[in-house]
Amino acid sequence: MYSQAKVIAGGLAHIPVVIGVFYFILTTFNKRALKFVEETKTKKTEAKPVEPQKVTVLKTEAPKTEAPKTESPKTESLKEVKKKHADVPVNIYRPKTPYEGTVIENYSLLKEGAIGRVNHITFDLKDSDPFLNYVEGQSIGIMPAGEDTNGKPHKLRLYSIASTRHGDNFNGNTVSLCVRQLQYEKDGETINGVCSTYLCDIKPGDKVKITGPVGKEMLLPDEEDANIVMLATGTGIAPMRAYLRRMFEATEKEKNNWNFKGKAWLFMGAPKSANLLYEEDLQRYLTDYPENFKYTKAISREQQNAKGGRMYIQDRVLESANELFNMIEDEKTHIYLCGLKGMEPGIDEAMTKAAEEKGLNWSELRPQLKKAGRWHVETY
Ligand code: FAD
Ligand code: A2P
Repeated sequence: MYSQAKVIAGGLAHIPVVIGVFYFILTTFNKRALKFVEETKTKKTEAKPVEPQKVTVLKTEAPKTEAPKTESPKTESLKEVKKKHADVPVNIYRPKTPYEGTVIENYSLLKEGAIGRVNHITFDLKDSDPFLNYVEGQSIGIMPAGEDTNGKPHKLRLYSIASTRHGDNFNGNTVSLCVRQLQYEKDGETINGVCSTYLCDIKPGDKVKITGPVGKEMLLPDEEDANIVMLATGTGIAPMRAYLRRMFEATEKEKNNWNFKGKAWLFMGAPKSANLLYEEDLQRYLTDYPENFKYTKAISREQQNAKGGRMYIQDRVLESANELFNMIEDEKTHIYLCGLKGMEPGIDEAMTKAAEEKGLNWSELRPQLKKAGRWHVETY
């Protein structure tokens, strides 16, 4: 039997052991915690240089052999691009609370003898609060006045923005569109598209419900020495007009402090010469920037392709296969496709043939370009 004194003495004798165990646990935990903090710090400092490094590769005139060739830098580059685009404004105005913009001007872009109706329409944004800002390559939604056959308000239609963020007047408070009136025959009757007819008919001073902006697919790269290949049919020129203004209009260059040094190549498809859109501006850019701008037209109902059929932009792509693929092999080259959905298979076929001539496989190359954020498509 233990006496009370013995029990107390035994208990006291265990105290150093308990302190020892407690001290061991504490130091081990601290060491691990410190190691974790160190590791995290190292990872962070290792990850940081990736961004400037990649940008440097794109910005300098580095010979091709010095550019990264592996898959992983390309994937990182796409992530970087997405990160950069996080600031691009979207959905400032939604269908339930659209902005009512005032029409400033609405005029035809077509010459005598052209087919159909295509208008350039500008809206005033200055009263929007929050301000409806946007960047080149985005779209806005238009909600046509009136109701559908079910008595419900018409749904919005999207239109590519044809102006730069500074607007046609460079004051930064307007947005412009390039709209073709949809017209087709059904059972012997001419059907007019709801929204495109509404837009082509509106007058200066009219109020129009606007939503957006939306879209990050057609944004331009930041690099001044990027090459921009543009494949457009009809109103598909809209985003391209904004890019070209950003590149070649003196006031734009000044305002953006962005001096385009790459090559811009526009393939433009129109049914007739009288249907060519923004032609005077494009000719001026050709005169002012012969080293930086190339303009190839496919006028379907006036020119014939090698097979004697209508000349489409994909036929022009084939004619220029070698030069085009030399550009595409350069990591600084982006390709933008906009306009008729129907052109996509034709473009794909032409790119396949053009790639073959260079010993390349388009079905492998296209997803790579897409993954690298260099293949941009908006067709409708
Ligand atoms: P609707 O009244 O909506 O009629 C269209 C419907 O008519 C079709 O859905 C189809 O059911 C039917 N239809 C059409 N053609 C035929 C035919 N030949 N035979 C039988 N039925 C037919 N348009 C531009 O003009 N400029 C742009 O910059 C532009 N950018 C766009 C950007 C994006 C991202 C998208 C998605 C579309 C863009 N569009 C642009 C197209 C635009 O959104 C409208 O679809 C177009 O103006 C037609 O709308 P609507 O209201 O006039 O026609
Ligand atoms: P076409 O209508 O002669 O067949 P717009 O929008 O002003 O009508 O211009 C569209 C242009 O795109 C026209 O020249 C039209 O030719 C052409 N086009 C039509 N279908 C295709 C297609 N599948 N691929 C490429 N271009 C096309």
